[in-house]
Amino acid sequence: MKDWRWAFLGLVCFGLVLRIGAVERGRGQPTERISGSAGDVLEDDPVGRLKVFVYELPSKYNKKILQKDPRCLTHMFAAEIFMHRFLLSSPVRTLNPAEADWFYTPVYSTCDLTPNGLPLPFKSPRMMRSAIQLISSNWPYWNRTEGADHFFIVPHDFGACFHYLEEKAIERRILTLLQRATLVQTFGQKNHVCLKDGSITIPPYAPPQKMEAHLIPPHIPRSIFVYFRGLFYDVGNDPEGGYYARGARAAVWENFKDNPLFDISTEHPTTYYEDMQRAIFCLCPLGWAPWSPRLVEAVIFGCIPVIIADDIVLPFADAIPWEDIGVFVDEKDVPNLDTILTSIPPEVILRKQRLLANPSMKQAMLFPQPAQSGDAFHQILNGLARKLPHDKSVYLKAGEKVLNWTAGPVADLKPW
Ligand SMILES: *[C@@H]1O[C@H](CO)[C@@H](O)[C@H](O)[C@H]1NC(C)=O
Ligand SMILES: *[C@@H]1O[C@H](CO)[C@@H](O)[C@H](O)[C@H]1NC(C)=O
Repeated sequence: MKDWRWAFLGLVCFGLVLRIGAVERGRGQPTERISGSAGDVLEDDPVGRLKVFVYELPSKYNKKILQKDPRCLTHMFAAEIFMHRFLLSSPVRTLNPAEADWFYTPVYSTCDLTPNGLPLPFKSPRMMRSAIQLISSNWPYWNRTEGADHFFIVPHDFGACFHYLEEKAIERRILTLLQRATLVQTFGQKNHVCLKDGSITIPPYAPPQKMEAHLIPPHIPRSIFVYFRGLFYDVGNDPEGGYYARGARAAVWENFKDNPLFDISTEHPTTYYEDMQRAIFCLCPLGWAPWSPRLVEAVIFGCIPVIIADDIVLPFADAIPWEDIGVFVDEKDVPNLDTILTSIPPEVILRKQRLLANPSMKQAMLFPQPAQSGDAFHQILNGLARKLPHDKSVYLKAGEKVLNWTAGPVADLKPW
């Protein structure tokens, strides 16, 4: 590319930084209430609108697994553990299953880590099957609906398809026994066999205290135009290239590695969180899954998320106005990312920043300990409450069976 063009872009960037810096002074900063129904939904209070019964399971389905590997409390699927803890002491919990609207089965399906800490989902189908066998023989509620008034937290990459490689996940499909249940999962992509209608898409877990500890003084200007840290290629799992991130990350690198507006690299600096607070745009491209924790980090640090993941279904999309706070770029348009971002008018950028500064937006992305009103726990409950009352059709006739208990790969049928 010609030098004059970079000089021009540099000026545009500098201009933006100046104007944004002026408005942003003090990130106790002008915030904007979200108008319309989205904002109202975000601030809903679920208490009094639903009752949840928590099945008591032997600890081998949850606490024992966590004891074996406490790292499960900090990885990006940790929401399954915190949701359990939250529900145990939540005012929506009922100890009387006869009056429950929803039934929750606390199985830690992603707490099986490789030595270097990567969660594996291979035991999950057997665990789930075993837990469902247990609740369906000890209580009458599962058989009544075959799970249609039960919800499960399945935060792994492809939800209840239980495989981290997309091809394999698609082949497996959603575990048969979970096909009538409501699934609470991070995976969200339209028209995908691993996302069924009525699922609740949640943000991945990102540690609230750790992020808070890295907040920088509010007057520091956003002097980075575009920021990204992470993989562009996954040579180990995708040696030929093009499959990982459907080539979108590779395209970011190949087109913009030398562009001064793009602060992008595979190196993860210790100032990562601080850098996001110094950036205007944070790239959130798909990886193996459509989302990554960057999405949460961008919202928390007020960096406009640039979402590059065609057909993504974003967390709590019925409550969070993603179109207003983020920028959506089609995967095929990655080579034009520079032009797309530099042609966004400053007033549009400022409006997105004001919306991002709204504390309720950040709150909805987090699973804080202890829980706070409006946080991700409450958004999940709101999502469940909005599905009530259950349609009459979810209740089966006495003795009626819909699900096939022996379907699926033979290995999944082994006892757990
Ligand atoms: C639910 O159905 C299963 C399979 O038909 C049966 O084995 C089990 O005893 C039933 N549970 C209850 C509580 O009746
Ligand atoms: C259940 O699935 C198994 C395995 O795919 C199959 O052999 C069997 O015929 C199915 N049963 C019914 C009732 O569809």
